[in-house]
Amino acid sequence: MQHLLTLDGMPRATVVELLDRAQHFADLAGDSDALRGTAVCTLFFEPSTRTRMSFQLAAQRLGAHVLNFDVSTSSARKGETALDTMRNLEAMGVRGFIVRHHDDGAVARRADAARPGTALVNAGDGRSAHPTQGLLDMLTLRQAKGEDFARLKIAIVGDVKHSRVARSDLHALRALGAADVRVCAPSALLPDDATLAGCHVTHDLDEAIDGADAVMTLRLQRERMEDGLVDSLEGYHRDYGITATRLARAAPDAVVMHPGPINRGVEITDEVADGPRSLILRQVANGVAVRMAVLERLLAG
Ligand code: NCD
Repeated sequence: MQHLLTLDGMPRATVVELLDRAQHFADLAGDSDALRGTAVCTLFFEPSTRTRMSFQLAAQRLGAHVLNFDVSTSSARKGETALDTMRNLEAMGVRGFIVRHHDDGAVARRADAARPGTALVNAGDGRSAHPTQGLLDMLTLRQAKGEDFARLKIAIVGDVKHSRVARSDLHALRALGAADVRVCAPSALLPDDATLAGCHVTHDLDEAIDGADAVMTLRLQRERMEDGLVDSLEGYHRDYGITATRLARAAPDAVVMHPGPINRGVEITDEVADGPRSLILRQVANGVAVRMAVLERLLAG
């Protein structure tokens, strides 16, 4: 594996190896020196809190030198091309690039142009993929519910259409054999491509949540409000918000997940987000461990 661009088509064995290694890092009290002397660079063309910080921390915990490319103050502002930027950083000895970009496929295009010894990690491109988020979500689910994904009932609720997180989650769930995946959103927020193959699609939140072992809710991408895809935040919350009352329909030990950032009171109430079923901060913690496993796999040795 030279790059990590997507979970689409990743064999189950590879997913499991990465999760096992991430669990090792989650259990590890100290740091590792697997990447001592290796230079990696974060290149984020879109805002990020969790993903960027946890990649930085993961690289540091592996002993790497971490550079943060600041798009707003770099020569990208003077018109330097993405390829020239990458070539210059490669010339300094950077071996790993962690890239987030608003365009679908932008990370893969950079990977195509990379030198043979350079690794790219997709930290989220357009609506397409966010593979490390998919892996950290699977690690979190596995810790809470065990390894047998085939017996789990999983509800994915919210703006699936614009969500690279949902796409990577669905790829990972398929690889791990999840058989009962319900996807719930208003029609305007459902994708019309092959993303939902094999899922039970419904507009009825109670139906989606009924007996679910895990409810994975997504951020309502408020920037889409302007497109008129959602009438009002209140209406969305009424129909698709995860509340304690709604959650009462799920399995008694159901867990709730959200990739962040949360719109409190829109897709999820404070009571649920901060309540005993919430794994939201566990997801964040697992993000560091998963990113350590990915960086080690791509760059060590
Ligand atoms: C998400 C993203 O940027 O794709 N956040 C994250 O990485 N945890 C989800 C979102 O912005 O809705």
